Amino acid sequence: MNNHNNNFENIKAKQKTIKELLKKKNAVLLAHNYQRDEIQEIADFQGDSLELSIKANKTDADIIVFCGVRFMAESAAIMNPDKTVILPNGNAGCPMVDMITAKDIVNLKADYQGAPVVAYVNTSAECKAVSDICCTSANAVKVVNSLPAKRVIMVPDKNLGSYVQRFTDKEVISWPGYCPPHKRTTPEDIKAMKEKYPGAVFVAHPESTPETIDAADHVSSTSGMYKFVRESDAKYFIIGTERGIMYKMKKENPDKVFIAANRGLVCPNMKKTHLDDIIDSLGNMKNIIKIPEDVRIKARKSIENMLAL
Ligand code: 13P
Ligand code: SF4
Repeated sequence: MNNHNNNFENIKAKQKTIKELLKKKNAVLLAHNYQRDEIQEIADFQGDSLELSIKANKTDADIIVFCGVRFMAESAAIMNPDKTVILPNGNAGCPMVDMITAKDIVNLKADYQGAPVVAYVNTSAECKAVSDICCTSANAVKVVNSLPAKRVIMVPDKNLGSYVQRFTDKEVISWPGYCPPHKRTTPEDIKAMKEKYPGAVFVAHPESTPETIDAADHVSSTSGMYKFVRESDAKYFIIGTERGIMYKMKKENPDKVFIAANRGLVCPNMKKTHLDDIIDSLGNMKNIIKIPEDVRIKARKSIENMLAL
């Protein structure tokens, strides 16, 4: 057997082990759209941040295996205190989350009195606990426009903040956080790609810089992108988000061509989770998310306020 076949057999064997473990333990596997192909392949449910938080809230399973990054698994744990939530690789974090603390938010509230705080789900449980409402990239505009205030504070993503500012009359006060992989895509990349692939449609994520958003033909959350490319008549798509998203795009649209906007569009944290991590953490009940109860109760209110919309 050559190396390629060997590798394929290995992956299949590990996937089988995971499926058996999930069944035996009444566990569900949720995977973000950026996860490795072999994980997306066996997920019970795959989605963007909003879809995953809704799904985590509705499952009957005893255990949620969350293949994504820590803030996503924390959100599932915040909403499901009676379930066990596992983050298979405990080191899978999000640099944007670490760009703001709960203390920073308390200070912002003092500086901009009366302005509600909208916390992107890419925040720690502690930050969510001192915020008024959460949002994801799929509902940020709706969340901000639902608030009865003329001025809102958005944390921690300045790019999501300036994206929302385009669709609201409210004044958006943004914290200067950002997503490193999305920041790496520039309008020059898009210009070069469009020259190389005439007629190609550029799809961007709201975490992109304003200049890159200006160059976009379509802007949406990751799951919104699947819908857009499925329904579009175009053949070539330049994808301005983490390249893991292209696995399902190619599978669902075999006649269309997907090109990464640049080589830097890889989130190292989203790639930290391997099949072995799932087997180890679920098999041995490791990397269970724990959140102090007082923080959990307050953070839950912010997520619930978002889900109520
Ligand atoms: P969505 O899947 O909600 O669009 O989020 C992208 C992201 O960067 C998550 O960390
Ligand atoms: Fe964080 Fe960006 Fe990675 Fe999403 S893609 S987890 S925002 S670093």
